[in-house]
Amino acid sequence: MAALIEVRNVTRLFGGFVAVDDCSLSVEAGSITGLIGPNGAGKSTLFNMVAGNLKPSSGTILFNGEDVTGLAPHQLFARGLLRTFQIAHEFSNMTVLENLMMVPDTQAGENLFSAWLQPARVTREEAQVRARAEEVVSFLNIAHVKHELAGNLSGGQKKLLELGRTMMVHARAVLLDEIAAGVNRTLLNDLAGNIERLNREMGYTFFVIEHDMDLIARLCDPVIVMAHGTKMREGHIEDIKNDPEVIEAYFGGSPTGGATTAQEAR
Ligand SMILES: Nc1ncnc2c1ncn2[C@@H]1O[C@H](COP(=O)(O)OP(=O)(O)OP(=O)(O)O)[C@@H](O)[C@H]1O
Ligand SMILES: [Mg+2]
Repeated sequence: MAALIEVRNVTRLFGGFVAVDDCSLSVEAGSITGLIGPNGAGKSTLFNMVAGNLKPSSGTILFNGEDVTGLAPHQLFARGLLRTFQIAHEFSNMTVLENLMMVPDTQAGENLFSAWLQPARVTREEAQVRARAEEVVSFLNIAHVKHELAGNLSGGQKKLLELGRTMMVHARAVLLDEIAAGVNRTLLNDLAGNIERLNREMGYTFFVIEHDMDLIARLCDPVIVMAHGTKMREGHIEDIKNDPEVIEAYFGGSPTGGATTAQEAR
């Protein structure tokens, strides 16, 4: 398999603080790759750089072999690299179907992307968009709440809707940052099942930050462990879990990952 996302020697500083430290890793096309590590390890910062929300201080990020370092989110989006977003407050009083129909228009550039979320222009394409939204709710098994206001959904149903948005556009890779937080077991199971189906049936590649180890074990292979701003291990969860250095990174020493590096930096 080929690398779809490749991070090469990426560093991100916040002032003198090294949040991501000369990190290199790759996500194979077609994989569901996990990213774990203690709080403050730099996982979200790395995601933000891959998704274009933050620029690296140095290093290179490739997507599908193309250098995409420093590109804006909408430019990555147009290439099929997406991250999910929480349902914005202002859309909570729109229905599930209406939320799905707020597809981005790649012509509109930055503005549009800011939420990927501007109401779809009422165009001749609307019927097509609506039909796609209907397919998406069926696929995700949330057709029974399609006319429900997004604000009335449970936490887990909202996550399904967020995932559903990725299906309204041509996604190739989807970044998920802690999707399990606050989701009940039943819906988490649905969510995991849908991630697996999107991977298997639609060829989505997933890059998943998660603290829920059961979910990681179910979904992800391989799993990458980050600590102190860089990759420390990669492998199958069973091997990772029993690795003494990984256990040490989680439970021993500095609980805040990059802090040691920061102290060194001062
Ligand atoms: N915008 C910022 N300005 C300053 N420091 C930041 C900023 N964003 C993150 N950091 C710091 O960078 C380090 C890495 O943070 P990051 O959020 O990437 O960790 P994480 O691995 O996602 O942690 P968690 O598991 O708690 O979500 C932390 O020490 C954090 O305080
Ligand atoms: Mg984080």
